[in-house]
Amino acid sequence: MTTDALKIYPIKGGEVGRARLAVLARALAQTTERHLDRAGSLSGLTVVDVGCGGGDVTFALARRAGAKGQIIGIDLDEEKLGWARAEARAQGLDHVRFESTNVTQPWPVTGVDLVYARFILTHLREPQAMLAQALAALKPGGRILIEDIDFPGHFTSPECPAVDRYVELYIKLSRRRGGDPLIGRRLGLLLETAGYAGVETALIQPFARQGGAKDILILTFEAIAEGLVAEKLADADEIAEITRELKDFAARPDTIISMPRIFQAWARKD
Ligand SMILES: C[S@@+](CC[C@H](N)C(=O)[O-])C[C@H]1O[C@@H](n2cnc3c(N)ncnc32)[C@H](O)[C@@H]1O
Repeated sequence: MTTDALKIYPIKGGEVGRARLAVLARALAQTTERHLDRAGSLSGLTVVDVGCGGGDVTFALARRAGAKGQIIGIDLDEEKLGWARAEARAQGLDHVRFESTNVTQPWPVTGVDLVYARFILTHLREPQAMLAQALAALKPGGRILIEDIDFPGHFTSPECPAVDRYVELYIKLSRRRGGDPLIGRRLGLLLETAGYAGVETALIQPFARQGGAKDILILTFEAIAEGLVAEKLADADEIAEITRELKDFAARPDTIISMPRIFQAWARKD
């Protein structure tokens, strides 16, 4: 984490953050690929992945665009960008580059065909500023695809008070840092207000009896623990207790845990 803009990001970076994003990428691979299908063929196009993190979706976009495409991942976290660059080299993806950019400030690219943004608007104090930069970077007829969370919508079977408390604490921490953990439900309105045309939305909600959503919930709680203590929203004893309860509940084969509701939105620049 390198600048003030990232101080609002409630989730720990470093190895923990990278591992969490990799699990997230695996759990969401199918639903994100189906969302990307909405853009049609990306062959040869210029695509920006906004708040790209370790580049998991950037690489999927690069495969779709092919060697004649130009793929730019932008993020402010230098550490994640370093990992993403190394991974791009390892995968031989020469048409991908990663730029350190505050996504609410002018972007290092224009004439863009497609902007993709997953789980970034929720972390911004000014989500409208990011949508305005995307509109400025897009060429007329260019498209935008967004996925973002709506945190209160978690469910479990049977009921689990530790998950309920986790959801409550995440929402408090995200708001305390200036984010909007309920931004998913507003995506359509935000896009229309920003001046996009042809706005459409859909809702998905993955869940698991094994792995996937269960792993993500535990990794996310571990990754916000430091922030919860710093903001005095929970103390170390409560965090240890919740962690134990979450792990016990998730380990049972007869329990189900969901991810947050995830809204998908798509639109174009006229
Ligand atoms: C939850 S991660 C999502 C990463 C990636 N989109 C994915 O779905 O795997 C959010 C990312 O947004 C980045 N971020 C947060 N605020 C930012 C800002 N103002 N400018 C650029 N990147 C930002 C963080 O560094 C982090 O990598």
